[in-house]
Amino acid sequence: MHPDQQYPALSDLKSACRKRVPHFVWEYVDSATGTESVKQRNRTALDQVLFTPAILRGPITPDLRTRFLGRDYSCPIGIAPVGMSGLIWPGAEAALATMARNSRIPYALSTVATRLPEDIGPVAGDMGWFQLYPPKDPEIRRDLLTRARKSGFETLVLTVDVPGPSRRERQLRAQLAIPPRITPSILAQIALRPVWALGTLRHGTPRLRLMEEYLKLDGNAPSTAHAGYLLRAAPDWDYLRAVRDEWQGPLIIKGVLEPDDAARLRDAGMQAIWVSNHAGRQFDGAPAAIHCLPAIRAAVGPDFPLICDSGLETGLDILRVLALGADFAMLGRGWHYALGALGAQGPTHLYNILTEDMKSCMVQLGISRAQDAAARLAPVPEF
Ligand SMILES: Cc1cc2nc3c(=O)[nH]c(=O)nc-3n(C[C@H](O)[C@H](O)[C@H](O)COP(=O)(O)O)c2cc1C
Repeated sequence: MHPDQQYPALSDLKSACRKRVPHFVWEYVDSATGTESVKQRNRTALDQVLFTPAILRGPITPDLRTRFLGRDYSCPIGIAPVGMSGLIWPGAEAALATMARNSRIPYALSTVATRLPEDIGPVAGDMGWFQLYPPKDPEIRRDLLTRARKSGFETLVLTVDVPGPSRRERQLRAQLAIPPRITPSILAQIALRPVWALGTLRHGTPRLRLMEEYLKLDGNAPSTAHAGYLLRAAPDWDYLRAVRDEWQGPLIIKGVLEPDDAARLRDAGMQAIWVSNHAGRQFDGAPAAIHCLPAIRAAVGPDFPLICDSGLETGLDILRVLALGADFAMLGRGWHYALGALGAQGPTHLYNILTEDMKSCMVQLGISRAQDAAARLAPVPEF
């Protein structure tokens, strides 16, 4: 059976994933912080962006190819950095890097991945980006940057919206520790998910391998106080300047929601800005990411590269963020729901879902380039 018949949408992959990963893993990938109102806000704001279908345009051949920061991609969609991917699905980082390279979309490897940049860089090839959580110690920072560069990563993503850990109540309730602590309850959850359990046995206990090389922790820490958090600085503009000086390639700043910050970052020599509310995992009072896009686009000017993520689920959602000012769209959880549902084949299926949906929507809108979606925006109805 073609996977489209069983899993035609991301929502199908999400339900299947939930049934195939242990409860504590589900709580890790799916949770936000507080009452999780940001998740709903992202969805509602996306749904408010409407387009007017076009008629009498003759045949339309959608072309999704995109050039971004000096590279050619097959479409304006990428894989956002997700810490501990290998906990969510065994072998996740290698599977995502392989898929990214084959499909020609960017894959941002997290500082707190379960695999080392030296292992994943060569797999991702020229599609690999490295995401940096800012280490406190400048020596560690320089070492990480050198290692990332030597592993083949040319584009750096510095995440700035994690000035401290958030509470993530669902993760606390699930007693999630990094690396996982084996309690009777966790064991029982694992026993119910044999495919995940066998895969994890094969790949070994998921650990923050890169972080552990710099900090030897005794035992396990709660999921929001693990080695990755202990090593992080709350960066400021001086810190940013240091990273700018130390990294030779394109530098993208992730987690921006304010137009003034965006303009200042552009002036400070950054190559791109990533508009994101971290999928609601850090602060429950944040606005929907897509709501922040138009003002940020106005602040940085028409040509400055902008990325957007947070709550995107469909090809239509991708067109929505492109229409409001983004050049590129990212998904984080979606690829992991796909891995949970279908294993290593999942991300390719999600890629097909998103690109086919984009193309089908573009035909309705009478546009052959996704970048032209803004021209079909419909006014928001006022009743
Ligand atoms: C389980 C999980 C772990 C994440 N880890 C990181 C990380 O290590 N670094 C980072 O910059 N963002 C991290 N993020 C945020 C994502 O990069 C991205 O901004 C977000 O997931 C996008 O929203 P979406 O999941 O709705 O697509 C994480 C998100 C999730 C769901």
